[in-house]
Amino acid sequence: ETLMTLAEKMPKTELHLHIEGTFEPEQMFALAERNQIPLKYSTVEDLKAAYQFTNLQDFLDLYYQGMSVLLKEADFYDLTMAYLTKVHQENVVHVEIFFDPQGHLSRGVDFEPQISGIYKALKEAEEQWGMTSKLIMSFLRHLSEDSAFETLELAKPYLDWIDGVGLDSSEIGHPPEKFARVFKACQELGLKVTAHAGEEGPADYVWQAIDLIQVDRIDHGNRALEDEQLVKQIKARNLTLTVCPLSNLKLCVVDDLTDHPIKHMLKLGLNATVNSDDPAYFGGYMVDNYHALIKESDLSKAELHQLAKNSIVGSWMSADTKQRHL
Ligand code: HPA
Ligand code: ZN
Repeated sequence: ETLMTLAEKMPKTELHLHIEGTFEPEQMFALAERNQIPLKYSTVEDLKAAYQFTNLQDFLDLYYQGMSVLLKEADFYDLTMAYLTKVHQENVVHVEIFFDPQGHLSRGVDFEPQISGIYKALKEAEEQWGMTSKLIMSFLRHLSEDSAFETLELAKPYLDWIDGVGLDSSEIGHPPEKFARVFKACQELGLKVTAHAGEEGPADYVWQAIDLIQVDRIDHGNRALEDEQLVKQIKARNLTLTVCPLSNLKLCVVDDLTDHPIKHMLKLGLNATVNSDDPAYFGGYMVDNYHALIKESDLSKAELHQLAKNSIVGSWMSADTKQRHL
C-alpha cells in the first residue's frame, strides 16, 4: 500500500476548518443566484483567478466577500453538508468546525439561521454516517472586545450546540490579550477554548494564548518553533497544534512544503495535526493536504500514522470515543 493510499484510507479527524472557507466558487455562484445577490466577479473562472494571495489579509478580503451570499438557514445547511459529504469520502470520522457569526451578523443575518443550518447538517452526518462533530464559534479578532461579548450573548440560547470558542481573522495587531476577558467568560460557561496564534503573529502571541487565555489547543502555532521555552511549555501542557500545510503555502507563511514546520513539530514530539483551514480557497481538502506533505516533504509511514493518531488524541471527543478510534 502506498503512502498516498494510506493517507486516504486511515481514519482521521479535522480540527481546523472554517465552514465559510469551504465555499466552492460553483456553489457560491449558485447561492448568489438563489439569493439574488450580485458577486464582484462575473464568472467562476474570474473568481478563481483572484485566489492569489501574498498574505493572510489578502485572503480574508475575499473570504468575507464570498460569505456575503449566505443569508438563510438553507444556505448554511447546504454549505455544511457539501463539506461533510466531501470529507466523509476521505475517511474523516470526526470534525471540529469553526463558524464566524460576526461575519454574518454584520450583514444583517441573525445568529439563529446560521447555527441552525450548520447544526442540522452536523446532526444529519452523524445519523447517516456516524460522523461525529464539535462546533466552535470563532470571534473575529479585528473587531472589538465589546462586539465579541455581544456575540457571546447572542450565542447563549444555543450553548447546547456549541462546544468551544476560537479566535480568527487578522492576527497581527490583535493579540490574544485583547480578548482575555471574553474567553474567561466563555470558560465559565463550560466552553472549550482555542485560538489562532503564531500563523503570522510572533511567538509572544502564542505565549499570550497559553498564559492569558488558557487555551485547550493552538491553531497553526508555526512561529512557536522560534522560541525554545515556548516549545517546552506546549509540550508540558500537552497542547495540540492544528497545522494547515496548504493554507501556509497559499498565504506565504512558508515558501514551500519541503521543510514544513509540521515535520519539526513531530520531531520535537509535539502533538501536531494536519488540517485544511479553508479548503475551497487553498486548493485542497484533508487528503490533499496529506498528499502534498507526502510528495513535498518526504513524510514517512510512521509520521503519517502519528499525524492520524494526533488528530484523534487532539480532538475534543470523549476519552471513550477516542479509544474507539485508536
Ligand atoms: N487565519 C485567520 N483567520 C482565518 C483563517 C486563517 O487561516 N481562515 C479563516 N479565517
Ligand atoms: Zn484558520
